[in-house]
Amino acid sequence: MASVNPCAAEIAAAVAAALGGEVRPEDLKVEAPPRPELGDFAVGMFAVAKALKQPPPALAVRVAAALQPGELIASATAAGPFVNIRIARGWALRWLAKKELVPAIGAGKVLCIDYSSPNISKHLAYHHIRSTMLGHALAELHRALGWKVIGINHVGDWGTTHGMLIAAYHAWGHEETYRPLDITALNALYVRYRAAIKEDPSLEDAARAWFKRLEDGEAEARALWQRFRDISMAEFKSVYELLDVRFDHEGGESFYEDKMPEVVQLLAQKGLLAESEGATVVWLPDEKNPLLVKTKDGTTLYATRDLASAIYRKRTWDFDRSLYVVDRGQSVHFRQVFKCLALLGFDWATQCEHVPFGLVRFGGKKTSTRGGVGGDGRDRPMLLKEVFAEAIDEVAPIIAEKNPEMDAATAAATAKWVGIGAVVFANVVPQRDKDIDFDWERATSLSGDSGPYLQFTAARCAGIRRKAGNPPSQVETADWSLLTHDAEWAVARRLLDFGDAVARAAASCEPHILAHYLLDLAGDVSRWFTLGNDEPGLRVLVDDPALRAARLALVEVVRHALEQGLGILGLHAPERM
Ligand code: ARG
Repeated sequence: MASVNPCAAEIAAAVAAALGGEVRPEDLKVEAPPRPELGDFAVGMFAVAKALKQPPPALAVRVAAALQPGELIASATAAGPFVNIRIARGWALRWLAKKELVPAIGAGKVLCIDYSSPNISKHLAYHHIRSTMLGHALAELHRALGWKVIGINHVGDWGTTHGMLIAAYHAWGHEETYRPLDITALNALYVRYRAAIKEDPSLEDAARAWFKRLEDGEAEARALWQRFRDISMAEFKSVYELLDVRFDHEGGESFYEDKMPEVVQLLAQKGLLAESEGATVVWLPDEKNPLLVKTKDGTTLYATRDLASAIYRKRTWDFDRSLYVVDRGQSVHFRQVFKCLALLGFDWATQCEHVPFGLVRFGGKKTSTRGGVGGDGRDRPMLLKEVFAEAIDEVAPIIAEKNPEMDAATAAATAKWVGIGAVVFANVVPQRDKDIDFDWERATSLSGDSGPYLQFTAARCAGIRRKAGNPPSQVETADWSLLTHDAEWAVARRLLDFGDAVARAAASCEPHILAHYLLDLAGDVSRWFTLGNDEPGLRVLVDDPALRAARLALVEVVRHALEQGLGILGLHAPERM
């Protein structure tokens, strides 16, 4: 995608004009050069060399000679196939003074995003952090760009599994061990039933029969299912509240129960249904296996509900993009569902995208949440809330020690957000498709390229402004042209890229692009502040009021960018740390 850096379009237009108007600005790629000493932007000539029938270096020389310093461009030099460009700092600083870091390029567009989506009657295990927080970040990235976002928690609350739970409850629910009936008890019942099936396969039929009764609307089945669902949703809610994650729709799979007959009918009308081993299926182009729509008992399946929910989402929200943030183990499922939607004649099937991500491994093993033994060797999985609690416990004494004057409530809130920040950031900083090996040290680290490091930088900015007496915003009133030092410029130049990082992360569904951008920004800021430690003239809080105001304005925009960027990734930026 074309850069949305505020300078990029103008630079591309100027370079296109310098080439004699024979190429379109959109054909030119405006990038950051590999090293800041080379310039603020670099434009490669490869893309247009063929059309202009000239070698890239010759074109670069031509462009560099033709580009005149002006309001935006300060200088241009040819370097091999590239033209390196320095921009007029005044222009950039005037732009920063407007404080609109992210362009509203998504205004008028609608995103549906399905994320977190755990199965009921099981804990939110540690690995659920990936779908939950990658999804949260993608939702917030789009929101920042002006999209209308519908966050959907498609909880797994329908299907044979729930028949199994009812059967298990019937058999053993009265036993003392399952009281109180909480999520741990529900999961234990499920695990026990699964194990029992291995001994006595007829239990499988009993479970299927219960699901059939559930789908037929039988009162007892319904009441038990509702109870299990309520217990589960209350448990999930406690974790979402801790993380400040909110959804717009939490109907779950059961919500589509009355919407599936229409789907089956549509498939029948189009002549797409076939029978295979007693089940009802749809054969799809270039797929070895068909998509299962109904079991041999006539009950519906996961895929049937995904067809119904896709159609429902399009009709209800008329999305421009519909994302499914689900681990890569379900790639075939989503590919088949989208193919089936296309066969049904829905041209919007191309707007649906599976956003897969890698596994969280414990000691090299995939977490097991259904098998009864967690990856850590205990008889249940590592819980998400346990990891957060541990991280917060580790952070709390450090915060207390560093901030003796902080009151207890603020210290607790700070420890909470720093602990959560460490864990969440460790999960959004790697590339999405990479598997993550869980280790306590890394998940809760406060140093290095971590969430707490970014939070600390944001708190430092707040601290400087506090020391200056927390003046009202100086962004619009300050004389930004006073910021002439290279260290200040590096920060300002980086801030120009904020919106572009957000736009690229959203378009490619890669929140790590923003995570790395924030680390780079924090690096530039700490280099600036470190120089100020050695050279008093470079400090933010100098005596000269005009210079001080300009530097405070830059600190203010940095704080704003870090706060917004961290917020998108699901981290809070404390005032003090
Ligand atoms: N509940 C499913 C699971 O835990 C994920 C659901 C994802 N969303 C969807 N529309 N299929 O594997």
